[in-house]
Amino acid sequence: FDQVSFLQCFSLHSLQSNSTSLTITTRNDPTYISLLQSSIQNLRFLNTSSPSPQLIVTPVHPFQIQAAIVCSQKHGVHVRVRSGGHDYEGLSYVSQIPFIIIDLRNMRSVEVDVEKECAWVESGATLGELYYGISQKSKFLGFPAGSCPTVGVGGHVSGGGFGTIFRKYGLAADNVIDAKIVDVNGKILDRKAMGEDIFWAIRGGGGASFGVIFSWKIKLLPVPPTVTVFEVDKTIEENATMLLYKWQNVAHRLHEDLFLHAVIGVVTPSSTSANKTISISFGGLYLGKIERLLPLIRETFPELGLTRESCTEMSWIQSVLYFAGFSQDGSPGVLLNRTQSSKSFFKAKSDYVTKPISETGLEGLWNKLIEDEASYLILTPYGGVMSQIPDSETPFPHRRGNMYQIQYMVTWASEEESNQHINWMRGLYDYMAPYVSSFPRAAYMNYRDLDLGRNYIVNTTYAQASVWGLKYFKSNFRRLVKVKTASDPTNFFWNEQSFPVLSPRR
Ligand code: FDA
Repeated sequence: FDQVSFLQCFSLHSLQSNSTSLTITTRNDPTYISLLQSSIQNLRFLNTSSPSPQLIVTPVHPFQIQAAIVCSQKHGVHVRVRSGGHDYEGLSYVSQIPFIIIDLRNMRSVEVDVEKECAWVESGATLGELYYGISQKSKFLGFPAGSCPTVGVGGHVSGGGFGTIFRKYGLAADNVIDAKIVDVNGKILDRKAMGEDIFWAIRGGGGASFGVIFSWKIKLLPVPPTVTVFEVDKTIEENATMLLYKWQNVAHRLHEDLFLHAVIGVVTPSSTSANKTISISFGGLYLGKIERLLPLIRETFPELGLTRESCTEMSWIQSVLYFAGFSQDGSPGVLLNRTQSSKSFFKAKSDYVTKPISETGLEGLWNKLIEDEASYLILTPYGGVMSQIPDSETPFPHRRGNMYQIQYMVTWASEEESNQHINWMRGLYDYMAPYVSSFPRAAYMNYRDLDLGRNYIVNTTYAQASVWGLKYFKSNFRRLVKVKTASDPTNFFWNEQSFPVLSPRR
């Protein structure tokens, strides 16, 4: 890699001789390591043996992204695009092939138009910055995206993006009305210029196969002045297995204003007892007041025993703070903090459930979880508007017919433990096979999992990529490959799970 020539090329194409030093950090720069590591979420990839980029570009203006794309191709280096750095497998900042990072941290404006109920948000903004920006302009508008405030808009929206109001409004990607991308030719394209195929592909197909999306126009959606959050915790000794069995049949059928998820973990009930058990936290959000929520739950899920004491009324932005783990009475300003308070090593996987898991199946699952107490599961109910949006509307295909999604997660604190936990996670995934969707065994792309399959060589075939592609995208995979082939025929935007380019018919 000829760094000097790259820097000359960048200066030339970014048309500002002084912009290079401000927007490019090279390996010799004292801030290189801290810049590289700052938004890495998974400590598995924060070690000196992970391949590091030749340099990091932190554009403040789209023409610097254009310059980085043009010069990377000219100098034969790959590009990894990073918005919030939350990729589960580190694909936004690790590559085995010589590469640079385009890190969008400095492109993070949020412009809210209350009258038109929309916003332009740049990809480098975090979800926290987006929610904060909306809350500063309106108490009655919200946006259906994830709960973790440090997640980046760029990766989240391009991969789908769900949160506590997705049963009412769909995914973040379902609520995009325009976008701006720098394509493989270094051109800036908006929705009209990119065409409906690319605009479709970047709303759930992941952005990284198609270019650098630097800005999104999103629809803002009404939220009531008062919402209610609630939580009921039960251990298996308190009948949690029966409750979860019932929950499976109920949660996806609930009114779309009601989101009731289940978080399952291993606990040791008292310090004197060595026996571990399973605790299930049934919690959620209702878009309305307690007095409407209680009869709704009593009618549909009386076994839960939800009482007024387990419910708290608040504003929608306070509920964002609550689900992010902050005090709902604190200032929404905490949402602007771009770094997670604690980071860990982790491995995650996902599944979709289309028929209830038997109580025997659940009991076996508890036994598996108890083997690794650093594990937990998040069960997210589908239904609501998610069942009404056609599977082909966006690349995200997990709509009608899905009762709920499971996220399996295991976290740990030191590198030596990695193999043990990752192997355990793979065993858990094998155990779950009979209970979850099959042909394909569906998975959520934003919970990236390279165990599902990966591109090892640049020219992966359609059949090879189908192994993971059909799991993430089902019948939308074919269209995604076609869009990739037409928009990036040289396969410049390659990564371990980018779409393959079809070879021309002979
Ligand atoms: P990152 O910057 O790592 O990018 C992820 C992928 O997108 C990479 O392939 C990257 O190259 C590509 N990319 C990023 N920006 C791009 C751009 N501007 N143009 C083109 N390609 C781009 N999900 C969810 O739906 N609901 C939730 O509640 C949560 N919660 C959650 C909590 C925590 C702690 C983590 C670590 C993750 C989640 N997620 C989630 C998953 C999250 O949505 C997923 O990891 C996103 O891809 C992260 O987006 P970032 O921009 O942060 O990642």
